[in-house]
Amino acid sequence: MIQNRERWGSKLGFILAAAGSAVGLGNIWKFPYIAGENGGAAFVFVYLICIGIIGFPVLISEILIGRTTQKNPVGAFAMLANSKLWRSVGFLGVIAGFMILSFYSVIGGWTIGYVIETLRGSLSDFHNPAEAGILFNQLSGSVLWTISYHTIFFGFTMFIVMRGVQGGIERSSKIMMPILLSILIILMIRGITLEGASKGLAFLWVPDWSKINGQSILIALGHAFFTLSLGMGAMLTYGSYMSKKDSVVNAAAQVVFLDTLIALMAGVAIFTAVFASGLDPAAGPGLIFKTLPAVFASMTGGTFFALLFFLLLAIAALTSAISLLEVVVAYFVDEKEWTRKQAVLIFGGSIYLLGIPSALSFNLMSDLTLYGKTFFDIVDFIASNVLLPFGGLMIAIFVGWVWSRTEVMNAVKEGAESLFESYPWFEGLWFIFLKFIAPVLITVVLLNSLGIV
Ligand code: TRP
Repeated sequence: MIQNRERWGSKLGFILAAAGSAVGLGNIWKFPYIAGENGGAAFVFVYLICIGIIGFPVLISEILIGRTTQKNPVGAFAMLANSKLWRSVGFLGVIAGFMILSFYSVIGGWTIGYVIETLRGSLSDFHNPAEAGILFNQLSGSVLWTISYHTIFFGFTMFIVMRGVQGGIERSSKIMMPILLSILIILMIRGITLEGASKGLAFLWVPDWSKINGQSILIALGHAFFTLSLGMGAMLTYGSYMSKKDSVVNAAAQVVFLDTLIALMAGVAIFTAVFASGLDPAAGPGLIFKTLPAVFASMTGGTFFALLFFLLLAIAALTSAISLLEVVVAYFVDEKEWTRKQAVLIFGGSIYLLGIPSALSFNLMSDLTLYGKTFFDIVDFIASNVLLPFGGLMIAIFVGWVWSRTEVMNAVKEGAESLFESYPWFEGLWFIFLKFIAPVLITVVLLNSLGIV
């Protein structure tokens, strides 16, 4: 079984696939709007600290567990800690992947839908965000529109995962990630060269500390997790296809770098344009689908830039979606000996079906709520705010406290001997973050999500 297991073709293949997982709607849709709502630069600063002290140490740990065991999350924990508790941590990850992908695909579908609407010219004559908002409500309010694009987005996701680790995920990431970066560079240059762009740059770089409070710190912490795809074994699964010759620390650093760079670039591209048009940076989740279309409509060449922007979102969403499906597929392939094709069709199909009520949460089922939350909100909340922090907490505890330190160090040094020799303090620092700082901070995030603190 192990001998036939799939692998990345190269280290670059892993980096691009893992960065593809990390860079998603979280970077281009969510990060700009939460930064906008929480005061811009000061929030960005707090976010960068969270990435450094929680995101990076936990990312190394997740990739390491995968690379060491060469297994899916359930198999990996079973191998290292043969206990029911740890197996179920892996299993919760598979469930979280199932849930996140179901609603992620709905939004992914919208992004493809917006590419098509741009081509049809529906976005070209807005005068303000309110008009763009009317179109958005019309589109997301249509059962046919939302379900059709959910289907198309999911079809792409299944198609890529079906073709395997090297032939599907790695190959498509090598094509899509350079395109994503090029589009972002073009959009950033367009933004910076707009008249009035400097106000947008100031918003991102000049901190207003009065906007920072406990709540915004918790949002930054939670987002650090989501954006690096942590807490449910996606990075673990991608790490399991990695060779022991490559350094996990170095790979993790490159993924963190790319993810952060791309979030900041998206912030620059979006806020320069929003401020140049004199619009509200704190528009919330509608920033992308309501504010930006109005910005594009008023810009020379706006249709072209709108097209690039929604294409960028669609690519970012797709490379993340495939990592979510891969976790579920890897579990059934490794543990239940299904073929990849069967796993993709049966479980991909079930995730697709679970996505339907999420798509309907914006139309047919919008009045069906529990504690004010629609079906979409509930699945998002349980997965992103409860299961992910819980998974991240358990991963930090596992590597910090449960797995023997000698074994951890032997494993992490494979492919990275020189790093630990040149920077002897790195080991101690990594363990302090894993053993104490990450567990305490993540517990606070979790309790806050549950409404306890
Ligand atoms: N990181 C992705 C984003 O920023 C989302 C994502 C993909 C994810 N795979 C994940 C989040 C696994 C958590 C866990 O949009």
